[in-house]
Amino acid sequence: MKANVRPVLYSKLPNNGTTIFSVMSKLAADYNAINLSQGFPNFEASPALISLVEYYMRKGFNQYAPMIGVHSLREAIAQKTFELYGVQYHPELEITITSGATEALFAAISAIVRPDDEVIVFEPAYDSYAPAIELNGGIPIYVSLTPPHYTIDWEDVKGKISPRTKLIIINTPHNPAGSILGPNDLNELANIVKDTHIFLLGDEVYEHIVFDGEKHHSLISHTILQERSFVCGSFGKTFHVTGWKVGYCLAPADLTVEFRKIHQFLTFCTITPVQFAIADFLKTPDNYLSVSAFYEQKRDVFLKCIKGSNFSYVPSKGSYFQNLSYSNITKENDYDLAVKLTKEIGVASIPVSVFYHRKTDYKTLRFCFAKDDDTLKRAGERLAKLK
Ligand SMILES: Cc1ncc(COP(=O)(O)O)c(C=O)c1O
Repeated sequence: MKANVRPVLYSKLPNNGTTIFSVMSKLAADYNAINLSQGFPNFEASPALISLVEYYMRKGFNQYAPMIGVHSLREAIAQKTFELYGVQYHPELEITITSGATEALFAAISAIVRPDDEVIVFEPAYDSYAPAIELNGGIPIYVSLTPPHYTIDWEDVKGKISPRTKLIIINTPHNPAGSILGPNDLNELANIVKDTHIFLLGDEVYEHIVFDGEKHHSLISHTILQERSFVCGSFGKTFHVTGWKVGYCLAPADLTVEFRKIHQFLTFCTITPVQFAIADFLKTPDNYLSVSAFYEQKRDVFLKCIKGSNFSYVPSKGSYFQNLSYSNITKENDYDLAVKLTKEIGVASIPVSVFYHRKTDYKTLRFCFAKDDDTLKRAGERLAKLK
């Protein structure tokens, strides 16, 4: 008898294994270490927001939401965006609610990128961009940013643009660098793209986490950029509810039409009662305007412990990540050191090399400071003892 033939599944993402975030979080749990690796808060969201979700659940808002998101939430986002950046997005035609920013990024990339298209990706880079590009047959073209400031050399970007460049992905405030773009960066970018067919994808999930009196400079705030941009946001980041996975995408109407064609077959819609609750919560602007000061205080609690230690750093300008360079402490590679610190001093971090496609090691670790003050102090004190 002939043996059955079993199909072989050839991986579409052969280079992607278990993510470093799962690896480090498991290691942190195994060694009972303080987990500053993965980017999520260890404190609760506003009780008022939780009550609103409960209210809408009990009221029976538990079936599918409209594919484009509930109206009140799209209205609230339109208003917030207008107040912050002076641009009016049409709630019916230009705003789509997604299952986290991750889905929005994937849908936007899928709408834009065709086989052999090139996409400019700044690295260190958030880990979902390259797989999304590659699954659509595109080619990531990397522009490397280096610590401690991670500033963009726009001449370098110009040199990487080709007739096949279809998209540039911009992440500001930046994970893992903790850097932000300024008005000059947006002008440079506009000069590069203005006479081209290049689209822009703005990953602005940390838009409400910007420090030291600086302001978030959105792609939306620059006309030349805005009209060719998909801009993604995440309520998970803004309201300390990363597990709810509610995000959104803003894009001009013709771009949104194509975005929605993908979104409707990826997830169709996202959780209904949470959308209604967030819509109500957004009516109080302080709920998002106060987030920067909240995290700035946490950054400072952490850095106060590190000050005077052998780590060197530039204070994070935005996001809830702080990078520390350890080149004055050891020559070890960052991956080994992150594992060692988890096991031996009980603090888990992420080696920044994992965010570079060639795993370039700048002797830098990323720490998430979205933690209660006591946790930050305990972690900071342990790290400061390293000689
Ligand atoms: C830069 C960046 N973009 C996107 C996301 C994903 O956001 P969400 O949890 O809303 O999918 C994250 C989450 O860590 C992030 O850091």
